[in-house]
Amino acid sequence: AGPCDIYASGGTPCVAAHSTTRALFSAFSGSLYQVKRGSDGATTNIAPLSAGGVANAAAQDSFCSGTTCLITTIFDQSGRGNHLTAAPPGGAASGPNPGGVDDTAAADGAPVTLNGQKAYGVFVSPGTGYRNDATNGIAVGDAAEGMYAVLDGTHFNGGCCFDYGNGETSARDTGNGHMEAIYFGNSGVWGTGSGSGPWIMADLENGLFSGFNVKNNPADPTITNRFITAVVKGQPNNWSIRGGNAASGSLSTFYSGARPNASGYNPMHKEGAIILGIGGDNSISAQGTFYEGVMTSGFPSEATENSVQANIVAARYATTSMTSGPAISVGSHVSLRATTACCTTRFIAHTGSAVNTQVVSSSSASALKLQASWNVVAGLGNSACVSFESRDTPGSFLRHANFVLLVNANDNSKQFKEDATFCPKVGLNGQGNSIRAWGYPTRSFRHFNNSLFVASNGGPNTFDAASSYNDDVSFVVSTAFA
Ligand code: AHR
Ligand code: AHR
Repeated sequence: AGPCDIYASGGTPCVAAHSTTRALFSAFSGSLYQVKRGSDGATTNIAPLSAGGVANAAAQDSFCSGTTCLITTIFDQSGRGNHLTAAPPGGAASGPNPGGVDDTAAADGAPVTLNGQKAYGVFVSPGTGYRNDATNGIAVGDAAEGMYAVLDGTHFNGGCCFDYGNGETSARDTGNGHMEAIYFGNSGVWGTGSGSGPWIMADLENGLFSGFNVKNNPADPTITNRFITAVVKGQPNNWSIRGGNAASGSLSTFYSGARPNASGYNPMHKEGAIILGIGGDNSISAQGTFYEGVMTSGFPSEATENSVQANIVAARYATTSMTSGPAISVGSHVSLRATTACCTTRFIAHTGSAVNTQVVSSSSASALKLQASWNVVAGLGNSACVSFESRDTPGSFLRHANFVLLVNANDNSKQFKEDATFCPKVGLNGQGNSIRAWGYPTRSFRHFNNSLFVASNGGPNTFDAASSYNDDVSFVVSTAFA
């Protein structure tokens, strides 16, 4: 059985079921998600390998070979048509794309295995969001509902709001109680749990809630497992938060009781839109990774949720390599040569904090050789990837800020470490490596007018131009000049 078969047996059927990693009904063999590739704009749908099984990641890999791919649709497996696509602009923010539409996720940003078979999650960077404002069967008003999501417990931030669940149909903040969604992150603006976070909380609009007290529930723990199961459910004047390790063990109940001690949340005023990766008003500052999740009609029993957790554990989520292409080994010293026809004698170098390409050779002055040489160290923000320390400025690293590549001193902040973490993959033009930003997997090192950026393929910035993208993001990596 799949999670939604279990919910159906419990009398609380799935009315939305989203996953890029696996079928959530044992009989489901339809499309899980759609990807769109950068080379020609073509799309394809990815289905499970067999009914009830893991997604056919190999079909994605072959369709996307030698180009970029975005996850354009996450299909609803429940049969109700509650598919998720790029979120429209909202009351709080507009997305970075034409019309104010949010970004969609890189198709290869969150590789994992399920029972040893490769699949991809949905890696949400700030600016990324999915939504459906015209749903079928999702709870409205004070009606009961349940939901769970499997998330990456190590990918979060304090921005508003990495959510999955029930939001406003207008993408506007229409008041307290107009949302009921799972939140995951370490925002301390509204509620908190114990420790410094991240926490599973409920976004009920104009507040992230951990329990009855609007500020703090010490029974809502900091949770940091690599894979987590997050549960939120609500019925008239009663709701719960539950959670646990999605890779082993059982769920714990972090809160169960009355609605929060503030006006506007009892009764609730749910509107029935579905959001992923954003707040109800399209606040787009948060990050996180989503693998699977559902919303139910009715208030699921703990016994039903415990069986769903056992099913998730049996799916055996596990990590896999975050990199591909020629090895860029920790402890090595490297130089990175451009491969675009204009520029094959140019290497990534820095002039102070600015990062550029410069013509360097074995006969260059030693200072220039050092400017174009980098120590490869374990990724400061994720040791499955790498960081590049300047050879002539120890303690300073390549990092992006506003998608411009810089050399800056490590200030030890979470933001710096993540901005300085890069996951090399096979070069898009077939040469060397493309060096994608860990936190923005749609973006890779790109030289553009001899300056360095982290660029997406055809995105909104000048340096995102699709023309010559594959060549500009492919670098041959060799032993350092110095
Ligand atoms: O409730 C927290 C956030 O507040 C909601 O997600 C958003 O709509 C509002 O800005
Ligand atoms: O480069 C993109 C983002 O811009 C970085 O993550 C952040 O430091 C800055 O806001």
